[in-house]
Amino acid sequence: MQSVKILVVDDEELIRSSIKQYLEKEGHEVLTEGTGEDGLKTYRAELPDMVFLDLHMPGINGMEVLEAIKKINKDTVVIIITAHGAVETAVSAIKLGAFDFIEKPFEFSRLSILIKKALETVDLKKEVNFLRGEQHQKYRFESIICESEIMKNIISLAKKIAESDANTVLIQGESGTGKTLISRAIHYHSARASKPFVEITCTALPETLVESELFGYEKGAFTDAKSAKKGLFELADGGTVYLDEIGDMKPSTQAKFLKVIEEKVFMRIGSLKETSVDVRIIATTNRNLREEVMKGNFREDLYYRLNVIPMEFPALRNRKEDILPTAMYFLETMRKECRRNITGISKDVQGLFLKYNWPGNIRELKNVIERVFILGIEGQLLPEHLPLEIAGVGREAPVLGSVHDHDEFRFPISDDGISIEEVEKEFIIQALRMTAENQTKAAKLLGLSRDALRYRMQKFKLL
Ligand SMILES: Nc1ncnc2c1ncn2[C@@H]1O[C@H](COP(=O)(O)OP(=O)(O)O)[C@@H](O)[C@H]1O
Ligand SMILES: [Mg+2]
Repeated sequence: MQSVKILVVDDEELIRSSIKQYLEKEGHEVLTEGTGEDGLKTYRAELPDMVFLDLHMPGINGMEVLEAIKKINKDTVVIIITAHGAVETAVSAIKLGAFDFIEKPFEFSRLSILIKKALETVDLKKEVNFLRGEQHQKYRFESIICESEIMKNIISLAKKIAESDANTVLIQGESGTGKTLISRAIHYHSARASKPFVEITCTALPETLVESELFGYEKGAFTDAKSAKKGLFELADGGTVYLDEIGDMKPSTQAKFLKVIEEKVFMRIGSLKETSVDVRIIATTNRNLREEVMKGNFREDLYYRLNVIPMEFPALRNRKEDILPTAMYFLETMRKECRRNITGISKDVQGLFLKYNWPGNIRELKNVIERVFILGIEGQLLPEHLPLEIAGVGREAPVLGSVHDHDEFRFPISDDGISIEEVEKEFIIQALRMTAENQTKAAKLLGLSRDALRYRMQKFKLL
């Protein structure tokens, strides 16, 4: 059975301790409280997955505790413990949202059955654990392709990190170099594997939302806070937080984040109590953070805190030995998935792959192979199956008059010649690429009106 966090609230010491002993043996985490007041306090602080709740207690009674819990988080599974014969009260508890009830005296095995039933109904945990098992398979170090010495060293460092209790790692590298992939492998091969891997992209978070996303809030902390919510750090407790593009974090957020790293505590918004967390932080950046520190964009203290174990992922163009093995690996895996008969990579294509500079790194290489499958190509992979930016590399081409200062502005011409239509299309594609698809700028580059450009884009099915 999966393990869950359970709170037992009962005024009878013997019941509390015996339930605790039994459920802990079953592998669950168990908290106990003897009064409704204390029960609620612990509930708020710990947000357990399940609560076993006695209805008859001095002070605030079980029914009130149940109502309060349901208001804080209606998804919590509450199982009522009642005296024998008090079925009627139990039924009203169920109307208030309790999951089920159990009559005293009971056999302990009944507790397991109830927990199992609740888990099946809620199903969430099950799904999560199942996925975690799959993830472990998916993120094996063995399926990370590395022929180059430099990547082999990175993988062996990653394995050491996974086994260590090092809790901050800083990865620098261009987009698409494998930062996320290797971080997941670290997580799923560490003692933290059964806890979550939570990804946060700093770029995507509006500053105002950052605090509530990261730290969570108490019910009523602000107008929309209808119920308490755990933040990402709390959700990741025991696991790994992957912070993508930390260089984009705003200074005020950097300060709050530093506290989490230094003191391992934070406060939910609207709470006066500090919550402690145990997370491994893997932060990534594609900028040079040291330079950002010098420019005053990134806090120096945070930089040094993060930079305990620095890793630098090289761009694919700087480790050419990896290009062909990785391309072959993608080809093989996709061939199995799609059952398409692609027999191999022609020598010409191999040459082009090695010459190309891969600005999008492995991600781009993967896309190129994927495209081949989408296009339904069979047999040998030939240069004409590749996108123009790759196929065109190395073919000398004249430069168009008006834009001759852009030296990427070339078109491919082969021995078989090229139609003027193709040239036109190619220039349009390149102009769009150079201007990040800004049609107005692209039209200007080509000396066309925007309408004339759009007309041609339509003609060449680029719209
Ligand atoms: N060494 C590698 N072997 C196999 N696949 C890789 C490798 N590096 C990256 N990939 C794949 O390339 C894609 C981009 O990698 P990702 O980790 O998301 O890059 P980043 O986080 O640096 O932008 C993903 O689909 C990933 O699985
Ligand atoms: Mg990534």
